[in-house]
Amino acid sequence: MTSAHGTSAYEGYRHRHLLGIEGLTATEILFLLDLSDGYVAVNRSEDKKKDLLDGRTVINLFFESSTRTRTSFELAAKRLGADVINMSVAWSSIKKGETLIDTAMTLNAMHPDVLVVRHPDSGAVQLLSEKMNCAVINGGDGSHEHPTQALLDALTIRRRLGTIEGLQIAICGDIAHSRVARSNIHLLTTLGARVRLIAPPTLMPSSIERMGVETFTDMRKGLAGCDIVMMLRLQTERMQGSYVPSTREYFHFFGLDHEKLQAAKPNALIMHPGPMNRGVEIDSALADDIHRSVIREQVEMGVAVRMACLETLNHNLHLARSQQEQAAQ
Ligand code: CP
Repeated sequence: MTSAHGTSAYEGYRHRHLLGIEGLTATEILFLLDLSDGYVAVNRSEDKKKDLLDGRTVINLFFESSTRTRTSFELAAKRLGADVINMSVAWSSIKKGETLIDTAMTLNAMHPDVLVVRHPDSGAVQLLSEKMNCAVINGGDGSHEHPTQALLDALTIRRRLGTIEGLQIAICGDIAHSRVARSNIHLLTTLGARVRLIAPPTLMPSSIERMGVETFTDMRKGLAGCDIVMMLRLQTERMQGSYVPSTREYFHFFGLDHEKLQAAKPNALIMHPGPMNRGVEIDSALADDIHRSVIREQVEMGVAVRMACLETLNHNLHLARSQQEQAAQ
């Protein structure tokens, strides 16, 4: 089988699911990035529609709000020809007390091919994947992982700077509650970047240096010499109590603006996974500065990455099924 743009096989990524970046090899990550790269051109062309997922069903099951992830998975699946069901938890039987596992078993009985799940609890997507016969993609679980976000961030960086290896990358803000930070640390260190985390002590997980990163509580010191500055929002929905004195004081010390950015390399790029809180973790003018900010590009790369992930997992699922059928004959 060949992919939409001529890559010959899917040996580069053999897994049934995509639950996290932790544990993936550089080869597996690069395979997904290379496949995604081809989809950027497809998405910029007149003819975006492919038939690789014709007759397949993708279910988006989101237990938390989302603009980017849910929309881009839907768009990605439709551009590949799949039928897409967006399950709104607010209107599902979860509201009547049905458990996560019973919901999963119910969806499983309808024979979907891919299930994309976002859930507020770390580990919930892994648990659910163990009950499903289809491929499962983690669309973000608690403060654990958000693998497709890290892949789209890496694709954005690689297309801008040509490589990830050897870059100095700062991830700044609410590290403690951020699944985006965790997935990015795994991915960027696996591909040979040097990663710095910048946060107030209350938002810096203890012993996080074990992930192979440097930590800073001073924004200017942490930004010194960085190629990429990745900003994170304060995830107040995951906080119990107060982690910062006020958003005004937080912006003063940890909000990125043109003045603090001078500590980084002269052409350092600014990233943000969204949603942004302007004036809290990032200055509004900097977020919109087309010479520094690649935030809109990140969104564009999200569709390409999700097409590559859907294509690969769909292929792996149906290859495994046909091998099982052959073995049973
Ligand atoms: N980056 C991200 O996950 O955004 P959404 O919450 O809008 O999906």
